[in-house]
Amino acid sequence: MISSCLEECILRGLPEFGVWCPSENEQKLENLLSRYREQIKEKDQKYTEVKDSLRKSEKKVEDLILYLEVRGKNNRVFDKSMPVIYAITPTYYRGVQKAELTRLSQTFLHLPNFHWIVIEDSSSKTQLVADFLSQCGLSYTHLNILTPKEVKLKPDDPNWLKPRGVLQRNVGLSWLRKNLDPEVQPGVVYFADDDNTYDLKIFEQMRKTKVVSVWPVGLVGGLRFERPIVKNGKVTGWFTYWKPDRPFALDMAGFAVNLQLFFTYPEVEFSNYVKRGYQESTVLSGMMVTLDDLEPLADNCTKVLVWHTRTEAPKLTSEDKMKRKFGHGSDPNVEV
Ligand code: UGA
Ligand code: MN
Repeated sequence: MISSCLEECILRGLPEFGVWCPSENEQKLENLLSRYREQIKEKDQKYTEVKDSLRKSEKKVEDLILYLEVRGKNNRVFDKSMPVIYAITPTYYRGVQKAELTRLSQTFLHLPNFHWIVIEDSSSKTQLVADFLSQCGLSYTHLNILTPKEVKLKPDDPNWLKPRGVLQRNVGLSWLRKNLDPEVQPGVVYFADDDNTYDLKIFEQMRKTKVVSVWPVGLVGGLRFERPIVKNGKVTGWFTYWKPDRPFALDMAGFAVNLQLFFTYPEVEFSNYVKRGYQESTVLSGMMVTLDDLEPLADNCTKVLVWHTRTEAPKLTSEDKMKRKFGHGSDPNVEV
């Protein structure tokens, strides 16, 4: 740029120089050069400023990507001003497992400040669940513990014969107690089985749980719904046909607990050896909860926002028939 200007000055002269004369115009030429140098300096400075601001923006984008990646993985980045909902979900391998987890995770994806604790009923973590969780987009913790044979339901047993998900929920509780601090980040714990159906409204309501909140559960206990009986805003008993004398005659899906309570009572857990239907009562009574403490949600327990749905086990009888007839069933490499 400068050299081409100079060239032009030398060859043709410029209007500001008048007639070209090297000795007379030397000073003017010097001035011109220093003006150009000044301009270059200014441009350099601007360039450095733009580069700096670009670097700052790049850093911001990198931080944001990192934040999103971290959030989607195992770590917890939560809004401190809002209690986190910790859902504890036992799960076990069967034909519908991935479908159940997909349905559940896509409900949970709507929730802010949410952490999913998934505990497999297995001796080690399965690839199916590990892969599923790593791409589900939720903040999660993946754990496992095998239910011992003597307390495990066999495929042909009626489902009520043995309790389910007991040790898994306990491992979830141990994780909470070891890894969280309710003083730093308040939280609410919900035992969300993998086969139920949940309306998002119940999560926003349970987030404010001070001690224990309760609400109706649909399609449970042989009734259209069971629910806490509420009089003048207080729970006075239980609307249920099955074992109404239980201290807390409600399903696992029908209550949430303030995280702090599990720290105030660090020994309390579920047990495979309590009477049928007494899991919920054992834990709540163990934490000295009384009816008076209960916070009725879902419009004073008049709305059903959770359903105790149970997915029918699929009959895969054509797999064997196909094997016999054609030597193979459906491609085992396709994950279902
Ligand atoms: C009812 C209650 O809703 C459960 O909360 C309670 O654990 C159960 O009864 C009981 O009596 O123990 P139900 O629908 O009959 O539930 O039980 P499932 O949904 O079959 O099992 C509850 C949870 O445990 C599920 O999340 C399920 O995936 C898990 N589970 C079940 C296991 O981890 N291992 C098993 O062998 C079976
Ligand atoms: Mn169930």
